[in-house]
Amino acid sequence: MNSRSDEFSNAASALAADGWCVLSNLLEPAQTRALTDECAAMHEAGQLQPARIGADRVASALRGDSTHWFDSGAMTVAQRAFSDRIDALRIALNRELMLGLVDCESHYAVYRPGAGYARHLDCLRDNDARVLSAVFYLNQAWLESDGGALRLYLADGSSRDILPQAGNLLLFLSAQFEHEVLPATRNRMSIACWMRQRVLVADR
Ligand code: OGA
Ligand code: MN
Repeated sequence: MNSRSDEFSNAASALAADGWCVLSNLLEPAQTRALTDECAAMHEAGQLQPARIGADRVASALRGDSTHWFDSGAMTVAQRAFSDRIDALRIALNRELMLGLVDCESHYAVYRPGAGYARHLDCLRDNDARVLSAVFYLNQAWLESDGGALRLYLADGSSRDILPQAGNLLLFLSAQFEHEVLPATRNRMSIACWMRQRVLVADR
């Protein structure tokens, strides 16, 4: 049942039914660990920058993370492993759901203790290229008492809290789900990734 060609079928079905899901078979634990170590080392070395919001890149009190965008021309071995698997997932979802996802953009994000991201939608204003949001978590042995859940708001008015546990990939339709990052008591690391469609307007 878990052959290479249908390994993402469950995710595709869940996305089609609910618009969101959590997938745990994206990477081997050692590959996730390599990303955890790299993200932590880059953060220590001051290589992540305070995040900005929107096309006008305004710094905002709404958002407390620091980020480092992956550069497709200069990825590390760990980043390449992640990117290759995300692309395999993107292609499988295109095949099963006909989503027309043409590429991905990804960044490391670190939230220091106490930092969060207020309730928001991932679609940038005037730009509907982002179809699917994917957040891959890098925190080994995360506990509920550490806080830092991603709170996903569902259409029926309820919400789900997803812990940022290493190896888990949260997927949701970018235009449909408001969500927020609750503050944590320890550094909270992830890769935020967006799968995009072609947008037929001039770049602004
Ligand atoms: C984002 C975001 C969620 C998370 O970067 O837009 O909502 O769990 N991240 O880190
Ligand atoms: Mn978001």
